[in-house]
Amino acid sequence: MTAARGFGTRCIHAGEAPDPTTGAHGVPIYQNVTYAFETHGQIEAMRCGERPHFTYSPRANPTVRCLEVKLADLEGTETSVALGSGMAAISGTLMTLLADGGHVIASDQLYDLTKTFLTTELPSLGSSATFVDVSDAAAVERAITPQTRAIYAEPFSNPLLRVTDPRLLAEMAHRHDLILIMDNTFLSPALLRPADLGADIVIHSATKYLSGNGHVQGGIVSGPRRHIEPIRAKISHLGTALSPFAAWLLLAGIHTLPLRMERHSENALTLASMLAAHPAVEDVHYPGLASDPGHSLAKDLLGMGHDRYGGMISFSLKGGRAEFGPFLDSLRLCTIAVSLGDCSTLIWPWHEGNLVRISTGLEDSRDLMLDVSNALDACLPAVAAD
Ligand SMILES: Cc1ncc(COP(=O)(O)O)c(C=O)c1O
Repeated sequence: MTAARGFGTRCIHAGEAPDPTTGAHGVPIYQNVTYAFETHGQIEAMRCGERPHFTYSPRANPTVRCLEVKLADLEGTETSVALGSGMAAISGTLMTLLADGGHVIASDQLYDLTKTFLTTELPSLGSSATFVDVSDAAAVERAITPQTRAIYAEPFSNPLLRVTDPRLLAEMAHRHDLILIMDNTFLSPALLRPADLGADIVIHSATKYLSGNGHVQGGIVSGPRRHIEPIRAKISHLGTALSPFAAWLLLAGIHTLPLRMERHSENALTLASMLAAHPAVEDVHYPGLASDPGHSLAKDLLGMGHDRYGGMISFSLKGGRAEFGPFLDSLRLCTIAVSLGDCSTLIWPWHEGNLVRISTGLEDSRDLMLDVSNALDACLPAVAAD
């Protein structure tokens, strides 16, 4: 696959070819666990690295391998490794890179379970994390210790959509011989490729946009071989490999990734503009809005001549948590659910404050707008009484 091909073409073709034995178009699901050798010589050739051979699917599987090749191509990295969930990708990466007392500087705005892993699991492994506002370069630099090995951030944070510039963090990380890890789940490689901007390792919860249908649980880590191969080895010890069926569903999902991200982004921009103008809404977080504090940076990072800023929005309801009831109970189309990146719009009230997170789906914009604005209208009497 030539790198000169367009991103949409590579989403379809990278890592894929007709099956060499049957000519089947589309990667088959290699559901088998083990692989046959014909001679002892083949085993010896495999062991001394002369002839690659699959041995055991939890270590390497042809369907999973196709997905890994595709992701490395799309992220612009040397290689990728697939795992059974986004959290397996995050924990497997950090456990490998921070083994034996390593320290990570992590963004103070991260997906909840990542934060929990960093605060509760890492110390029991002898490693540690310091949380800082990663948009404050001086604060990041002050947090560096002799044990620091990595900086960890999300380019668009979950759930507040704070925008972080991978270029600034990469420059600092490399000046101090640190590894920059970015969780790019909210944007997908269709909108941002952090490795192009200097990140060393890019992580995705493949459960979200890469799948696109809410049918799969998976994770991907992409980067240079020197970082990814030790993570791959760790996964076989932890037993957190991706299943062949999940890899096959993800290959199918990624074929339509750029088209879906366009539609998610269009719907989100329209929805965020409506939210910003609605009297029941206190505050909207969406970097696609000119009023968002991260807008000019997001435009610089993602703009690429078009207005696509992804499908994730969060907003605060006026009045507070008391308004969650009238709002959520009035929705007729959107699904009240956690997770994101699905073709249906998913709406979830945050466990703190009066924040609501929306993962904008692929529905007709008019229907989506009507559903959310009707539900917001239902909050107005309570807002007026406050
Ligand atoms: C930004 C981000 N990273 C990682 C994860 C974890 O992914 P998974 O649920 O596939 O373990 C999530 C899940 O919501 C997420 O939002």
